[in-house]
Amino acid sequence: MSSYSPSLRPRRLRQTPAFRTLFQETTLNINDLILPIFVEEGLDEYKEIQAMPGVMRIPERRLAYEIERIASAGIRAVMTFGISHHTDEDGSDTWQENGLVSRMSRICKDTVPEMIVMSDTCFCEYTTHGHCGVLHDHGVDNDATLINLGKQAVAAARAGADFIAPSAAMDGQVAAIRYALDEAGFTNTAIMSYSTKFASSFYGPFREAAGTSLKGDRKTYQMNPLNRREAIRESLIDQAEGADVLMVKPAGAYLDIIREVRERTDLPLAAYQVSGEYAMIKFAALAGAVNEQDVVLESLGAIKRAGADMILSYFALDLAEKHLL
Ligand code: PBG
Repeated sequence: MSSYSPSLRPRRLRQTPAFRTLFQETTLNINDLILPIFVEEGLDEYKEIQAMPGVMRIPERRLAYEIERIASAGIRAVMTFGISHHTDEDGSDTWQENGLVSRMSRICKDTVPEMIVMSDTCFCEYTTHGHCGVLHDHGVDNDATLINLGKQAVAAARAGADFIAPSAAMDGQVAAIRYALDEAGFTNTAIMSYSTKFASSFYGPFREAAGTSLKGDRKTYQMNPLNRREAIRESLIDQAEGADVLMVKPAGAYLDIIREVRERTDLPLAAYQVSGEYAMIKFAALAGAVNEQDVVLESLGAIKRAGADMILSYFALDLAEKHLL
């Protein structure tokens, strides 16, 4: 009947805090975290993001100060998102030598050269329609967008970005960017691809944070959240195209996908704890329903346990400044 055996006692290894620490299988370290930042041009004062309490839009003129603060807290890598006042149909500001994408990388690298700068490479914050590429009558034009992604990547690399991080979810974007970078001589600029990117409702607060004007959705280019096989295939395609690092996004509701991608590739794997994941924890904590620090560390630890090597998280700076890692 019952297979309970009095000699099988896993609780033996949980006796004291020291035991529990010794037998902890997964550890979280500040070096695992990448901080996404929102930088707005032409902004005078920091602007709170209502849907993400504790996260601010950084005025561009304060970026140098903020990067120093982020670096001195011990964060080694940032992902830059720009809020543009120069939107147009195609998002052409993104590939201007003095456009916001380039300026963000330049300011970061000039201020703290050792900071690893990852340039989110997309168009939705720079287009009038808010889509992630060139919009035609029939929708977003994949191959026209690839050309522009190549141009944006080269501009960011020229400005000093260490990583190009394409999040447009176009087919062939890694190959197109790799080709453009190599052609321009940026053979050392790495690509962290948003390789498995779901069309997720967890991105809700990002629209306010990044000021995108999208009406509708991105379901013709981002993935169906309920597809597992396709999720693996998407990441393996990006690996074949030459990505240096893969990513699963969002993270918390997709731990199974993180695990499976981890088992199917030897590339480093990132996971993105997105704006809605941040908001859910933050608002629940503000309401007194959960303990913020504990839940943050548990959620990030679980993402690592699932197989992520590194995590993009809006909690990174707070954790670093409070020496919680
Ligand atoms: C698109 C992009 C998005 C996020 C990162 N890059 C929004 C989207 O795809 O709709 C979301 C990040 C977040 O929600 O924290 N360029």
